[in-house]
Amino acid sequence: MRTVFLFLLVAFQALAFGSACEEGRQKRDLLVRTKRRWVLSTIELEEEMIVKYPYFISKMYNDKIQGKDFRFEITGVAVTKGYLTINETSGEVFALKPIDREKYPCFHVIFDVYDTDTNQKIDKELAFDVDVKDINDNPPRFIDFPQTFTVSESQAEGFLGVQVVAQDIDEKNTKNSTFNITVIKQTPPEPKIQAKWIDERTVHLNFTGCFDYEKVKDYKITLEAKDHGTPPLSSTAVISLNVRDTNTHMPEFKEKEVSFAFIYIFVGFVKFLRCH
Ligand SMILES: *[C@@H]1O[C@H](CO)[C@@H](O)[C@H](O)[C@H]1NC(C)=O
Ligand SMILES: *[C@@H]1O[C@H](CO)[C@@H](O)[C@H](O)[C@H]1NC(C)=O
Ligand SMILES: *[C@@H]1O[C@H](CO)[C@@H](O)[C@H](O)[C@H]1NC(C)=O
Ligand SMILES: *[C@@H]1O[C@H](CO)[C@@H](O)[C@H](O)[C@H]1NC(C)=O
Repeated sequence: MRTVFLFLLVAFQALAFGSACEEGRQKRDLLVRTKRRWVLSTIELEEEMIVKYPYFISKMYNDKIQGKDFRFEITGVAVTKGYLTINETSGEVFALKPIDREKYPCFHVIFDVYDTDTNQKIDKELAFDVDVKDINDNPPRFIDFPQTFTVSESQAEGFLGVQVVAQDIDEKNTKNSTFNITVIKQTPPEPKIQAKWIDERTVHLNFTGCFDYEKVKDYKITLEAKDHGTPPLSSTAVISLNVRDTNTHMPEFKEKEVSFAFIYIFVGFVKFLRCH
């Protein structure tokens, strides 16, 4: 077990942990004033630890307790929610159950020591933040995408009109929360549909080739979002694509002037050139 004097801990906190839990300055002043009296081993908490609980994580000590009857106390959300406890005589700190970092990324913890005869604080409180270390326990999930989508068979190749958004709630800007989205399966396989990256959460589907209503009316596209964790976690989404016929006006044309028929034939010919 590593035991570190508090002034080390203060420096460490100011550099690395300064962000997460709020009200930093006030807290640091407090630490500076009390720093030479509280001694504490570093507290390292990882989320979802598979260990035997209660699980020893740290031990605290205060050098003003000598010759006194005392009790340690720990307070904060970690305590009220039943995650941390302290043995009031030994100063040993225990985790009581697994913590979900996505719910509690950080605990603001306050330590006190009381004289049991007078019930007065023997020293100023010690307050600091404990970060809960992330593990890759969440796959990226699709949060916004159309389950069915209709595309016109005359649509020009490129953007299909479908936007897909996914999200991974593990720790931001780490491998555990960054991911890729790819089309892993498509039936039938032509025209080829691909996911084009827009930003770190969003892809646009595009396609290369042509849709032909006479041949295929329905497509199933299976997308996968996979993070870069070790091992990676993934999830899938399926989009049904319906092709809309653009030639349904043919009978109408037939009843009208011949020139319309020519226009229709011309349009069909252009489409033929483009798609075959
Ligand atoms: C607290 O620690 C002391 C000393 O190690 C031990 O005797 C006592 O049983 C512990 N109390 C609890 C409630 O675990
Ligand atoms: C990602 O998760 C793994 C466990 O799955 C963990 O060991 C690692 O420290 C995490 N990486 C980061 C950068 O948080
Ligand atoms: C994942 O996406 C990034 C860009 O967002 C890209 O640089 C990388 O090559 C992709 N990785 C794989 C395996 O497709
Ligand atoms: C579709 O997206 C892929 C992946 O970004 C890209 O390589 C390809 O050029 C795009 N195709 C079209 C027709 O836009």
